[in-house]
Amino acid sequence: MRVNVVNHPLVSHKLTVLRDEHTDSPTFRRLTDELVTLLAYEATREVRVDPKPITTPVGPTTGVYLAQPKPMVVPILRAGLGMLDGMMRLLPTAEVGFLGMVRNEETLEASTYAERLPEDLSGRQCYVLDPMLATGGTLAAAIKFLTDRGADDITAICLLAAPEGVANLEKGLDGLDVPVTVVTAALDQKLNEKGYIVPGLGDAGDRLYGVAH
Ligand code: URA
Repeated sequence: MRVNVVNHPLVSHKLTVLRDEHTDSPTFRRLTDELVTLLAYEATREVRVDPKPITTPVGPTTGVYLAQPKPMVVPILRAGLGMLDGMMRLLPTAEVGFLGMVRNEETLEASTYAERLPEDLSGRQCYVLDPMLATGGTLAAAIKFLTDRGADDITAICLLAAPEGVANLEKGLDGLDVPVTVVTAALDQKLNEKGYIVPGLGDAGDRLYGVAH
């Protein structure tokens, strides 16, 4: 598994505003959107392309087009939805599949409560959107779900990651014969006893959409 911590002053600036507890939801949503577009640029570095002969007004040349099958973007509900527009801005022709996963706050185990994805993902590159790589349980379950359906290349885009989450994810994916890359804006210090990333940014879903009771 590869971990790419994107080192760029604009990424750091936007992340700092996101972390600030005084940042309101509209600003949080807008900056998440912008930050994901920056992360998506790095995350799509190895998106598959095919050669494409074209003619410019000056003459013929060969460029590239995105390859088929189209990449699949998979936001993990609910907080991953806040990352979707920022991702689709760079990959507008990708398809979108949805995966609803919930974390039991006591056991910290992840389970699937909803999915809308093709049965067959053979040969598909998948971009999983999950803002917080905390314990790694949700992301590991999502990645296994996709590779069980045939996805052969996975890139997870996370706003933040905890070292424990990265280690657990690596352990959870042990033996998986599919390349997995995590692209994130920062690798934080640790998880606290409630499974929150420290210093983190709090509950990403609540900060994007308010508290759902
Ligand atoms: N999920 C969040 O939204 N925030 C964390 O810090 C950890 C998990």
